[in-house]
Amino acid sequence: MPKFMKVATPDELEDQQGKLVELEGQEIALFRVEEAFHALSDTCTHRGGPLSEGTVEGAEVTCPWHGARFDIKTGAVMGLPGDEKSGATNRSSSSERQTAA
Ligand code: FES
Repeated sequence: MPKFMKVATPDELEDQQGKLVELEGQEIALFRVEEAFHALSDTCTHRGGPLSEGTVEGAEVTCPWHGARFDIKTGAVMGLPGDEKSGATNRSSSSERQTAA
């Protein structure tokens, strides 16, 4: 059964902004895209860059180290050099603002 834990309030993130949160020893990149919040592993699949510090455009984040791009909603690799086999693990995806708080 999924477990819900409060990691941020909705007003902590602007649209197109990411934030690093630590949850049970894991570093998670939390993103806001419009009114939805999404969570991915903070670790880029290429060489471990911090995705929470990446540039967000639409529903994509670009790794700040070498430019790999990931779909924020699914974790899928959208541009190399991200590891196409694994992508960035989508930790959760909530479509409603209230569920992220
Ligand atoms: S570490 Fe992310 S693109 Fe290289």
